[in-house]
Amino acid sequence: MCGIVGIVSSNTNVVPLLVRSLKRLEYRGYDSAGFAFIIEGKLVVLKDKGYIDHVVKKYNVLSLYSNIGIAHTRWATHGQPSKINAHPHTDCKGLIAVVHNGIISNYLELKRQLEEKGHVFKSETDTEVIAHILEEYIIGEGLTPLQALHKLVKILKGTYAVALLYANTPNRIYFAKNVSPLILAVSPTYGLLSSDIPSLIEYSRKIVVVEDGEYGFVEPGNIVLYKDGRPVNWRPRIHVVNWSVADIEKAGYPHFMLKEIMEQPRALYDTYSGILADENVVRAAKLIVESSKVFVTGAGTSYHAGLTATYYFARVANQLPHAFISSEAELYADLASEDTVLIAISQSGETIDTLKAVRLFKKRGAKIIAISNVIGSAIPREADITVYTRAGPEIGVAATKTYLTQILVLQHIAFHVGFLRGLYSESELKNYIKLLGQAPKAVEQSLQRASPHINRLAMRLHREEHMYILGRLLGAFLALEAALKIKEVSYIHAEAYPAGESKHGPIALVHQGFPTIFIGTPPAHIVEKIASNIEEMMSRGAFTVLIGLSCYEDVKANFKLLLGPCDEYLAPYYIMPALQLLAYRLAVLRGYDPDKPRNLAKTVTVE
Ligand code: M6R
Repeated sequence: MCGIVGIVSSNTNVVPLLVRSLKRLEYRGYDSAGFAFIIEGKLVVLKDKGYIDHVVKKYNVLSLYSNIGIAHTRWATHGQPSKINAHPHTDCKGLIAVVHNGIISNYLELKRQLEEKGHVFKSETDTEVIAHILEEYIIGEGLTPLQALHKLVKILKGTYAVALLYANTPNRIYFAKNVSPLILAVSPTYGLLSSDIPSLIEYSRKIVVVEDGEYGFVEPGNIVLYKDGRPVNWRPRIHVVNWSVADIEKAGYPHFMLKEIMEQPRALYDTYSGILADENVVRAAKLIVESSKVFVTGAGTSYHAGLTATYYFARVANQLPHAFISSEAELYADLASEDTVLIAISQSGETIDTLKAVRLFKKRGAKIIAISNVIGSAIPREADITVYTRAGPEIGVAATKTYLTQILVLQHIAFHVGFLRGLYSESELKNYIKLLGQAPKAVEQSLQRASPHINRLAMRLHREEHMYILGRLLGAFLALEAALKIKEVSYIHAEAYPAGESKHGPIALVHQGFPTIFIGTPPAHIVEKIASNIEEMMSRGAFTVLIGLSCYEDVKANFKLLLGPCDEYLAPYYIMPALQLLAYRLAVLRGYDPDKPRNLAKTVTVE
């Protein structure tokens, strides 16, 4: 959803640093990119449609020298991807350059007022109004940039993380924030700001998360933060992140998606160890036990992790929380009250739909449990309790390692709820928790076993345009996630639904060779049902694939891959890595870059 970054130094050329940092934000959007520098007192703006590499090459950006710059990678919301609509945007006099992530909802009204005053707009974007408003305040009314920002945040409506350069203050990058994420990094030599932590990790691990309504500037070795015209002490808010540069590089893999699939054993191990020492797991379980209604929400993959959690809650805690897609929150929030708990799942912690769901539930007095991978992100900040996954930064647009770590956290909470409800003894709880400790090994074995078979399967399937992915109970939830992965990176239309549903309509589409992937999960009594669903498909000529566990030994399919013992708690760890690999291989065989799926961005911060 657009990435912004700014770096200023007193005596270093920041141009190569800025290019590197922007590249690390490319997962947020990549339809156009741009830079603004101050060189010899003048603003230099370079931008175009296309990937960052294209813009860097086109303008030979790396040949420039500047100690201050801001940059942007775009995911278009207002105005099609084009050179004119690419950021940075400037005022009429070419003294102010602005990059922005978010949507200014009252920009049409503001634009009309500015045009009446004689401002000339070059782009179709909402962002450009910010440059012209600041021109009015700073150049027209003679306010300082800080005074101008104070006024700006009062009139802007919508969501924004804004960074800006003003040619007359060549050592300061100004910023303002509402809803869209913005972080600052503490450094003795640089001034640093960005939409996300990975782009700054090379320069500092000390992070300050900017809060809504705050504004200020960074300069070499210093941060100045304001809210409502008063300075804010940001020092107590420093978070030290333990991600390393290696975590955010491809480490020899051709794509982040593959790297992140392969590092799942480590992500699960770190998450498991973290949970064991995290009292928030038990606090979350207590909150659930004390409440009368429990909802689970998330978007995309996080929603699928939430659905999977409902299965485990039903099995081990005798409770069925209601899972809903976070953009549909309105309907469910009406049912919330003070004895309601909402479990909000978001790897980024910034997805606007999930954040808004949290806010709707909070208004009704509900308690919020957040599951997130990003410390200090918006959803954890608004939650009563947060349990963090420890997957490390996920750069690939397709969520992989965060999904399985979310399931691991949710299973832990479910087991604790079951225990607190008196459904089993402490030693049984310990055994369950111990069992979950096998998740990293399960993924490792599954990846080793699956890899050559998945390559063959991908060869068979990569020219298809449609497929079904079917399962029952837990398998139906895993199927949804597999279909999302395949759709978003390979652009094959993969449709998931519970296997028993075929005969109620979807089987009408099946013809000779139509690919139908079945997910073979426990419990054992559904094996026969899945077997007959496969038969039904085969007898209509479908090409049937079965990816599952050992209890499916006797079941026939055209292509079969069994990946581990028939254990319902470990099933996601044996089965999902193979399906993630399949999505990845299909994308690559079809000639697509799985790290940059068209029309998508990693974190969706607009509604
Ligand atoms: O950061 P979040 O977990 O809140 O993101 C939610 C979805 O946007 C995300 O899972 C999306 O569906 C991914 N592209 C799935 O691979």
